[in-house]
Amino acid sequence: MKSIEVNVSSVYQTVSTDTIKALDAEAEKCLEIVDKGTGAGNDFLGWVNLPSATPQALLDDIEATAAKLQKSCEYVVCIGIGGSYLGAKAVIEALSDSFAAYKLSAGNPKVIFAGQNIGEDYMFELMDLLRDKKFGIIVISKSGTTTEPAIAFRLLKDMLEKQVGKEQAAERIVAITDEKRGALRQLATEEGYKTFVIADNVGGRFSVLSPVGLLPIAVAGYSIKALMKGAADMEAVTAKPGEQNPAQLYAQTRNALYRAGKKTEILANYCPKLHYFAEWWKQLYGESEGKDGKGIFPASVDLTTDLHSMGQWIQDGERTIFETVLTLEKQDHEVIVPTDNANLDGLNFLAGKRIDQVNKMAELGTRIAHIDGGVPNIVITLPALSEEYIGQLIYFFEKACGISGYMLGVNPFNQPGVEAYKKNMFALLEKPGYEKETEAMKKRLSGNA
Ligand code: PA5
Repeated sequence: MKSIEVNVSSVYQTVSTDTIKALDAEAEKCLEIVDKGTGAGNDFLGWVNLPSATPQALLDDIEATAAKLQKSCEYVVCIGIGGSYLGAKAVIEALSDSFAAYKLSAGNPKVIFAGQNIGEDYMFELMDLLRDKKFGIIVISKSGTTTEPAIAFRLLKDMLEKQVGKEQAAERIVAITDEKRGALRQLATEEGYKTFVIADNVGGRFSVLSPVGLLPIAVAGYSIKALMKGAADMEAVTAKPGEQNPAQLYAQTRNALYRAGKKTEILANYCPKLHYFAEWWKQLYGESEGKDGKGIFPASVDLTTDLHSMGQWIQDGERTIFETVLTLEKQDHEVIVPTDNANLDGLNFLAGKRIDQVNKMAELGTRIAHIDGGVPNIVITLPALSEEYIGQLIYFFEKACGISGYMLGVNPFNQPGVEAYKKNMFALLEKPGYEKETEAMKKRLSGNA
């Protein structure tokens, strides 16, 4: 079994090997702080040992629950937002046929996501789709009170109960939430839903390898045991200090780049299936590091698509960016460029070549152009899109994020800034308990504040 690899040699024009090496001791100390739990936010380190410590019995239970939903549903709506949504979405998209949503074939139920926005048309159209269909719900919320998923659940629960009756609906609803606290836990107990627990010491953005990510992934038909095996392999590799530790190397290199003025990291992929992986990564790093006036801004591009929109900026804009290229070694299928007798597009020089060969040369050409344009590259190689490699990649990024956040000097495991919009939204919506804020907001909006 291969492993994902990190290559930082294309950053040396910006930060030398010596500069990166000079951070060895600091990075190793931060690795130790994560592993020993001696830093800020250490009550949120439950994710560190999830791959090796999750009991087989829990994985069996998740698989059995998934099988029950698969049997009784054509669609399973997975309700959640942020860390209660992005991990499952990322893994399912990475492993799925790109056109699965359009295929009429029987098989596993379609997993649809909701509660990750407050789009009225989105909700209307989803409910329209589910009318007269067999559907189930996985509702995921650690707090149990997040507005976006709570609204979606209120609507879909009501719809399901009207469709099949309260008792049958309860058989098709699974709740993933806090063990004891919160509105969702209370409701699940009252209604007799099957539940899984989000441990107190696992934060949302680090929860994909818990039931939060595992149940939807299993419902979509993927092996959660292989995913956890890959993650466990990476847990072992990243527990050892030194340059062989890919998480340490990545954390230390990106911090060296940040200190050299590279304030934005662009995660670039050349495989459309990795789009949502980048969304998950953005939350992981954005919420973990963007605080106290510090933090690398995590951005992403899907290439070559975005070379036709963002390529100019990356090549030639302000030189404050670096790029981390997520490169996929092996495609699952082969497609050959055909010969065309007329050759009006002039592409016969590509005839007989695999599409992936063209893509790989586009990737290499772009990397070289970006390096020449002053954009250092870190390259992360993923051998293939399989459960095991995705499991490795998830754990790699999580571990690197913990180390990197401590190197930056922040608590990587809190997110105080997320509350600001909620406070304003509740004030504007006149939520009971927010009377003072509502009044202040009204004054402000009328220009008197
Ligand atoms: O990472 C986080 O903590 C957040 O993104 C949460 O996952 C998100 O806000 C959803 O919260 P909850 O699961 O409590 O509904």
